[in-house]
Amino acid sequence: MESQQQQLYDDEKQVPMIKNLDHLVQELHKVFDQDRVNVDYVKALLAAYKSSPKDWKKYAKYDPHRYTRNLIDTGNGKFNLMALCWGEAHGSSIHDHADAHCFVKILDGNLQETMFDWPNTSAGQTEMNKLDVNVYPKDGVAYINDSMGLHRMENPSHTDGCVSMHLYVPPFQSCKTFDERTGHEREVKVTFYSQYGKRTPFQAEANGCSDYSKQSVCCSDVVEPENN
Ligand code: SIN
Repeated sequence: MESQQQQLYDDEKQVPMIKNLDHLVQELHKVFDQDRVNVDYVKALLAAYKSSPKDWKKYAKYDPHRYTRNLIDTGNGKFNLMALCWGEAHGSSIHDHADAHCFVKILDGNLQETMFDWPNTSAGQTEMNKLDVNVYPKDGVAYINDSMGLHRMENPSHTDGCVSMHLYVPPFQSCKTFDERTGHEREVKVTFYSQYGKRTPFQAEANGCSDYSKQSVCCSDVVEPENN
């Protein structure tokens, strides 16, 4: 019985039709309730959802200076699902994913991913090695984990915004960012601009300045998701 149920969420050619974002979230809960998860099945599930602004507009909160991270669901503690809003030319630092799986689905606009090798500073390396550049259009799906390298995400448009949905499994509260010229790394805390459609209350952070975004803004919207 258990293995029969497991099979239900294993074949990427047999994903259900996804009606809307709520339906997608329900299916993700079922998938991540299993002991073993097929990355290709999750990618196919994200691809099966066709983005519709009425589903996600309550999470689409922009900031004029940097991209925002807006929590949608915490997957019973198994994952964090969030909408990232990228204003014109906004981008992230080069970063890792704290040993998590990172799935990305584009909801609106285009998002550019630049991939890098992990730096080897002990071998005297300075400039980081660029591996690849990909632009994902609306409804496109991307995937990365730390064994594949590092990436920077940015909105290549200087006229339009971009909204992307990110699924991190398991959820993480901090990750490393890297300086492209030196390869030097820094641990940063990741934050939410809003949670479940409501702006995160402003909290001055005493000892942590997470400039996860390319703009050197000291994020103070620090809130840990309650993994409900
Ligand atoms: C990403 O890693 O895909 C985007 C950056 C973020 O989660 O803030």
